[in-house]
Amino acid sequence: MRPITVNTLARRKEAGEPITCLTAYDAAFAGLLDRCGVDVILVGDSLGMVVQGHATTLPVTLEDMVYHVAGVARGSTQALIMADIPFLGDVDPATALAQAGALLRAGAHMVKIECGAIEVPVVERLVAAGIPVCAHLGLTPQAVHRFGGHRVQGRDPRAAAEMESLAARLEDVGAQALLLEGIPESLADAIVRSAGVPVIGIGASPRCDGQVLVLSDVLGLTPEPPRFARDFLADGGSLEGAVKAYCEAVRTRAFPQSGVHTFR
Ligand code: KIV
Repeated sequence: MRPITVNTLARRKEAGEPITCLTAYDAAFAGLLDRCGVDVILVGDSLGMVVQGHATTLPVTLEDMVYHVAGVARGSTQALIMADIPFLGDVDPATALAQAGALLRAGAHMVKIECGAIEVPVVERLVAAGIPVCAHLGLTPQAVHRFGGHRVQGRDPRAAAEMESLAARLEDVGAQALLLEGIPESLADAIVRSAGVPVIGIGASPRCDGQVLVLSDVLGLTPEPPRFARDFLADGGSLEGAVKAYCEAVRTRAFPQSGVHTFR
């Protein structure tokens, strides 16, 4: 098997073959995901909550991210490794460039940035430097305090229109993937329809070009999992069975289910 690249993801979108993505933070779980054929391993700053036990992702530092990306890179050979730029790591293009450089040197193949309008020039600068970027829109957890909690975004028509136009601008400046989190299904569908790059969803729409979940939610380890997650360990019976069941459900579009794992 050849390693997954940004070109593979683009081809998957073109062919209508859903992309599978899960988080991992160490070599052991990265190896498991790789063996099960997961396309993209996200070293998310959710590690602040899952691994470090914080209430939010905000305490995660670049050093933390580099440490976990390096472990994941040592454990996997096929998957594309996507890594989060941590909180305040994208305040300006120069800072973001230094952070993205450190993540790619540690073994990431793509960085993910939680985006508002201010991040458009940041994405443009990174792309100009040859760094693939996934732009994360919607319920961006680094803005949890501005949102007053982990709340669905883009429900009012003005916010929805702004998000659609932001997605288009980010694609125009070179983002090679979009990630939509916690937005109404109809808004996610509109963005997927107009996007020329792969759109990965979480709490978004079954019609996204791919799906992502946090691994601890998939393995039933989260005491109060978000509504958009599903415990696949119950179906799969083992770690490997759970990851394979997740991949199968994403590839056949059995997961997520409209109205069950999505929002109005
Ligand atoms: O940090 C993370 O794991 C994420 C996913 C929830 C998409 O950003």
